[in-house]
Amino acid sequence: RPRVLSGIQPTSGSFHLGNYLGAVRQWVSLQETHDAFYMVVDLHAITVEQDPAELRQNTRVSVAQLLGAGLDPERCTLFVQSHVPEHAQLAWVMNCLTGFGEASRMTQFKDKSARFGSGNTSVGLFTYPILQVADILLYQADQVPVGEDQRQHVELTRDLAERFNHRLGQTFTVPNPYILKETGKIYDLQDPTAKMSKSASSPKGLVSLLDEVKVSAKKFKSAVTDTGTVVSYDEKEKPGVSNLLNIYSAISGRSIPELVQHFEGKMYGALKTELAEVYTEWVAPFQERTRLYLDDPAELDAVLARGAEKARAVAGETLAAAYDRIGFLPAK
Ligand code: TYM
Repeated sequence: RPRVLSGIQPTSGSFHLGNYLGAVRQWVSLQETHDAFYMVVDLHAITVEQDPAELRQNTRVSVAQLLGAGLDPERCTLFVQSHVPEHAQLAWVMNCLTGFGEASRMTQFKDKSARFGSGNTSVGLFTYPILQVADILLYQADQVPVGEDQRQHVELTRDLAERFNHRLGQTFTVPNPYILKETGKIYDLQDPTAKMSKSASSPKGLVSLLDEVKVSAKKFKSAVTDTGTVVSYDEKEKPGVSNLLNIYSAISGRSIPELVQHFEGKMYGALKTELAEVYTEWVAPFQERTRLYLDDPAELDAVLARGAEKARAVAGETLAAAYDRIGFLPAK
């Protein structure tokens, strides 16, 4: 079985619809066909300041949501990044292999540091993508299911894997990004040219999965659409309508052409109202399942303990091989 690995940050408690459609939904289907490793990346979360109690709670909520979304600990390895110390260990090695200029070109860092101001930007935020490189390489992942915004980090992973292999001998699998065209980038409901993101200027464009369903339904109904009235798919001319169609199609499993036909003769309002309904039907049981997992912290801890054990078995082996290639004297 080919292997996949991916991670998600626990930063805001609730995942948003972009996280789910861009990444988590694929994680659920890939666990059936791949040897799958998924984690909540708390080490990444602390690249910006976190309240300790909130971080702990948000990590639990994140794991519960992943289970609520359909990850099955019998079919995949689900764990918390800080439970596997090899991540930080390999990240150091990868730091030493990365050029300063190379790290400086990472666009996500440039965006975030611009937003926070350089005085509030940690070195950890700068080296964040290199920790991600270590995450991926430790598991010898063939594919990395993520949204479009992570493509550059997977490219960096490929570069560093090849560099290490070339200099020190074949050690790491060179991974490929697994990004779906339709849902790789879900857009903000108020600004269909910007990706949906926790840091968007207005919360009205962001659909948080754990929000009260009424709140999200209202956001769909007041989504910004485009000039014209005909529901058709055209990313350039109709980014708002196309985004709604992509979301609708992904949640319902109905194809875009089928939906366009379904909305023939109807106005944008019909699309928004129906989408709000389709979303509500999907999200209500998701929320219910998530709540059940949150109400059972002992079960959640047990899942994570098993996950960390399975992850460490793989990560430990890769780290040992890398240490050996580098020339570290083995500890006796
Ligand atoms: P994070 O936590 O920001 O996002 C989790 C996943 O959601 C995807 N995503 C989106 N997809 C489509 N449309 C959107 N608007 C949207 N917003 C977010 C992201 O692409 C991501 O797949 N650095 C990563 C976490 C990470 C990781 C890893 C991923 C750490 N180590 C190793 C893969 C492999 C991040 O911050 O994702």
